Amino acid sequence: MKRILVTGATGNIGKEVIHFLCKPDKESEIIAGVRNVERAKNKFPDCPNLKFRQFDFEDSTSFNAAFTDVDILFLLRPPHISEIEKYFRPLLEAAKAMGINDVVFLSVQGAEKSKVIPHHKIETLIKSLGFNYIFVRPGYFMQNLTTTLLPEIVSSQTITLPSGKAKFNWVDVQNIGEATSALILDFSNFKNKAYEITGTENKNFADVTNLMSQVTGLNFRFKSINPISFYFKKKKEGVPSDFAIVMTILHFLPRVQAEPQISDNYEKLTGKKPTTIREFLEREKQTLMPPPIAK
Ligand SMILES: NC(=O)c1ccc[n+]([C@@H]2O[C@H](COP(=O)([O-])OP(=O)(O)OC[C@H]3O[C@@H](n4cnc5c(N)ncnc54)[C@H](OP(=O)(O)O)[C@@H]3O)[C@@H](O)[C@H]2O)c1
Repeated sequence: MKRILVTGATGNIGKEVIHFLCKPDKESEIIAGVRNVERAKNKFPDCPNLKFRQFDFEDSTSFNAAFTDVDILFLLRPPHISEIEKYFRPLLEAAKAMGINDVVFLSVQGAEKSKVIPHHKIETLIKSLGFNYIFVRPGYFMQNLTTTLLPEIVSSQTITLPSGKAKFNWVDVQNIGEATSALILDFSNFKNKAYEITGTENKNFADVTNLMSQVTGLNFRFKSINPISFYFKKKKEGVPSDFAIVMTILHFLPRVQAEPQISDNYEKLTGKKPTTIREFLEREKQTLMPPPIAK
């Protein structure tokens, strides 16, 4: 029996990875590594056998207990953590010292080409420390529409980004979770490679806001602004600097890069077709609607 520690367990990806790892026919012990065990406990109703361990990326004293007798570490980078030497080197060195050899890292599509992004540095670090690894490199999460971009969508039916006409590959986080769980559960077959997990559509934000309007009957619009204005807009909204920089880079870089490749890895791993943007919007329609006006 393999013991799998999932970091970022309560977030978009972690929850889906756990959901698929916990399917009844799977025979591994799944452990959620979370900052606050009590708060996390009621978040996984479909996974009654899930174990919990206290784990904090920003507190190295939590590492050894969390890593004890773990076979596979599923690692992600929480969006606000960008200092790789400060946080990820001690973490990965502790994992190695505790006998973990296998790491599955949630990276991002194109990480190999873009040395400025933190994911590239983490991939390099994992390799340099001699781990067996799987790098999961997903496209642009459809769920950004229902999380980070949602406040502006709901309040003014607008999306403001520095992305111009750049096309993004839109992928459903549920599909990423399912593909990642397949990679984790057959680690030795897939190890020491990177896997892009994408949807089947590359679309720019004007295309997507049009689709949002069609599906909801509301009038959504996309506004492109320059990257510097975007960075200061985010800062003014209270977004921490590191996160604002990463948001700016991730939405601006595709303007100067080639269109994303579409991969068939999801279908190969699961035997299913990825979610389309329209299917996602139909599923999440209510979330995108403005709140009812109180009488
Ligand atoms: N958005 C995209 O389109 C996209 C595309 C490709 C790759 N990615 C990458 O995906 C990653 C983010 O994944 P996500 O969307 O699943 O993140 P998320 O929803 O923001 O979740 C972050 C998770 O990290 C946990 N966390 C935060 N700080 C922590 C700490 N100090 N110690 C322990 N746990 C901590 C949070 O737990 P709490 O419940 O305790 O807060 C939460 O479970 C990023 O690296 C991003 O670059 C994103």
